[in-house]
Amino acid sequence: MAVDQRAGTRTAELQAERERLVARGIATAPLFVERAHGARLTDVDGREYIDFVGGIGTLNGGHTPETVVAAIKEQAERYLHQCYSIAQYEPFLEVCRRLIACHPGTGPFKALLVNTGAEATENAVKIARYHTGRQAVVCFENAFHGRTLLGMTLTSKAMPYKKGFGPFAPEVYRAQAPYPYRGIGTAEALASVERLFKSQVDPSAVAAMIYEPVQGEGGFHPATEGFVEGLIEICAKHGIVYISDEVQSGMCRTGYPAAVARWGCEPDLCTWGKSMGGGLPIAGVTGRAEIMDSVHPGGLGGTFVGNPLSCAAAIVALDQVLDPAYQEASRAFGDKLRGRLEDVASRVPAIGEVRGLGAMLAIELVEDRETRAPAAALAGRTIEIARGRGLILMGAGVLSNVIRILVPLVATDADLDEGFEILEASLREASAA
Ligand SMILES: Cc1ncc(COP(=O)(O)O)c(C=O)c1O
Repeated sequence: MAVDQRAGTRTAELQAERERLVARGIATAPLFVERAHGARLTDVDGREYIDFVGGIGTLNGGHTPETVVAAIKEQAERYLHQCYSIAQYEPFLEVCRRLIACHPGTGPFKALLVNTGAEATENAVKIARYHTGRQAVVCFENAFHGRTLLGMTLTSKAMPYKKGFGPFAPEVYRAQAPYPYRGIGTAEALASVERLFKSQVDPSAVAAMIYEPVQGEGGFHPATEGFVEGLIEICAKHGIVYISDEVQSGMCRTGYPAAVARWGCEPDLCTWGKSMGGGLPIAGVTGRAEIMDSVHPGGLGGTFVGNPLSCAAAIVALDQVLDPAYQEASRAFGDKLRGRLEDVASRVPAIGEVRGLGAMLAIELVEDRETRAPAAALAGRTIEIARGRGLILMGAGVLSNVIRILVPLVATDADLDEGFEILEASLREASAA
């Protein structure tokens, strides 16, 4: 990304320090935050930005929600850390109670708290392997499940997530995922799973299948009608544990605590993270009690899992997610966002498709609507121009030609008016370049 070279600015100074101190491998934008609230943040030079990224879907409830901040402060006065394996505490149980309520179906379910989405992936697979006594895992094209060894193995984008990091974890098999805009529908994707079972791995060796009901990093692809239902049917037939990765799609981003509920499906396990902590790091796995309880005591855990401060924040965030009025408001917000994006698309020919579910939406950029040739450079230029104009955007997609919208659900009409105006102007300027 281009560096802000405005000589003498605090941003330029800090960017130089960043280059001296911080490993190159973390991709960064030349933007240093001073403070943030709602859907807006202010940088160290006093510039204000509308935030359409929300910490990559981690701030569905907005920056610094008052209730979350108050809960963290109150908890900080009592105790900061215990390690749940050494001394237990009630907020951990209260988060589990609420996370279980987010899991679609009637249960009984149990929960495990961890620190990050990648850890949730790792633990879900560990639990499924233990439960089934099998090793193989089936994942999908366009997937993203984290940056740990198994997480990046399950992920389906080589650059930047896999290049140079092999060898990868064994026993991972990949099937097609629906991508109707590029010709893959429910039938093709389900057939690819059956083909995999003939050509690469016998289903009796498969412990788990993991799928994001709305694929995030891979390009904001919602499951097509019948796809998740079909996967769950296949899993039930072969005794495979079905894992719904809700790390990005969960927590009311799509109008439901778990996006998979949109299709009325009941996964065996769900992985959670991002907005679950209202801005603090916490993640989890929920699932059928008999599967979750397969593992012996001591087989799961970690020093910081369910940190008390994160639990205090998560209780507030989860109460909101479980509130039917909030779910309804999220769906209405999603409709509003889609309307705005379609409006922009009606005037900007580079937008090939507007897609997503609820408020988890994206635009796929193309060189030409007929050929659908992906316009990755255009996406990159648009993001940079938008930042210069005061709007934070982020890309997505295996082809790097998607711009995702994860604006906090608390954004006001004024935030949206300004943000979409900048988005359209930036797309036009980038298209003209
Ligand atoms: C669907 C999905 N799963 C897992 C992860 C990994 O989460 P984390 O970055 O917290 O490890 C992400 C992160 O973007 C994600 O989008």
